[in-house]
Amino acid sequence: MRCNLQRYLERSRGVICDPERIFICAGLQQSLDLVAHLLRGGHSTLAVENPGYHLPRVVFQNNGFEILPVEVGAGGMDLEALRASRGSIAYVTPSHQMPLGQVMPIANRLNLIEWADSGGNVIIEDDYDSELRYHGKPIPSLQGLRPDADIIYLGTFSKVLSPALRLSYMVLPNALLPGFNALYRDYFPTVSLLEQKAMAKFMAEGHWERHIRRMRIVYQKKHDVMLKAIEKHLDARATVIGAGAGLHMVLQLRDMPCTENSIMSAAAAKGINLFPFSATCVGAAPAATRLMLGFGGMAAADIEEGIRILAGVCLKVDENCPREQGQK
Ligand SMILES: Cc1ncc(COP(=O)(O)O)c(C=O)c1O
Repeated sequence: MRCNLQRYLERSRGVICDPERIFICAGLQQSLDLVAHLLRGGHSTLAVENPGYHLPRVVFQNNGFEILPVEVGAGGMDLEALRASRGSIAYVTPSHQMPLGQVMPIANRLNLIEWADSGGNVIIEDDYDSELRYHGKPIPSLQGLRPDADIIYLGTFSKVLSPALRLSYMVLPNALLPGFNALYRDYFPTVSLLEQKAMAKFMAEGHWERHIRRMRIVYQKKHDVMLKAIEKHLDARATVIGAGAGLHMVLQLRDMPCTENSIMSAAAAKGINLFPFSATCVGAAPAATRLMLGFGGMAAADIEEGIRILAGVCLKVDENCPREQGQK
């Protein structure tokens, strides 16, 4: 399976590595746990994107790390702020910032690599949904820019195949290999060898890349249906952030002072469950209310109906929401 992955990653993501540098894991959480345990002898701080995926914060905190939130700007993690922080490991999602969707420009990528090179720092690149880009060219990985830099590259089968599989992979930099192998030499694989063999065959016979192409079309349809439904039902009152890739988008409500909590509970009463945007934020959530809208697991027909119901919920909650003087 490592050989199949190596060929796929090189072809589709520009990741350059030997199969020996690839480790099969049971999801992001396990990869991060292994990495945190490995690095905690020499590091004690993790810089994370803010807003950003909550799981790395939890896993590294559980391993005794101090978490340092770094603001996200138009080009992804703010690198000036990263340099000013005490972070010596940076967890980033450069090809599709989670949750806001920015792509880190090439100059910032080189700057981030230079940060890793110059101070004995480590980058964790989470390339979680790179297969799902609906417009423009695919964005090659950060790892491929400098395969010998201290970049830990993480990918998953959760988005395109199934999150129920619990199948992911990580590519370690050469510098971390001896320590990793010494620490985990006696560990058994956590992903069933039957599943690994089945996946290796699936890849070797070309089904995986065919499946990706098929799923990209399926998800693009759902993505477009969601955008259209938002335009139809909420256009004047919301702005979409981070569309064009992945399996979610963020809706920023305009002129609606109602809170995420009030909308989430009213939506849940109508059968719509939302992941709280505030869970991606360290410290205060943004002043404007933002909602995370996932479309991956929904049928296209239900997306239009779901947005219609959600729009009704937002407008109703907004009507009953107390306003400060001067607000409309
Ligand atoms: C930023 C990010 N990374 C990784 C994953 C996938 O993790 P896993 O491989 O554990 O399913 C997700 C899933 O939602 C995610 O949002």
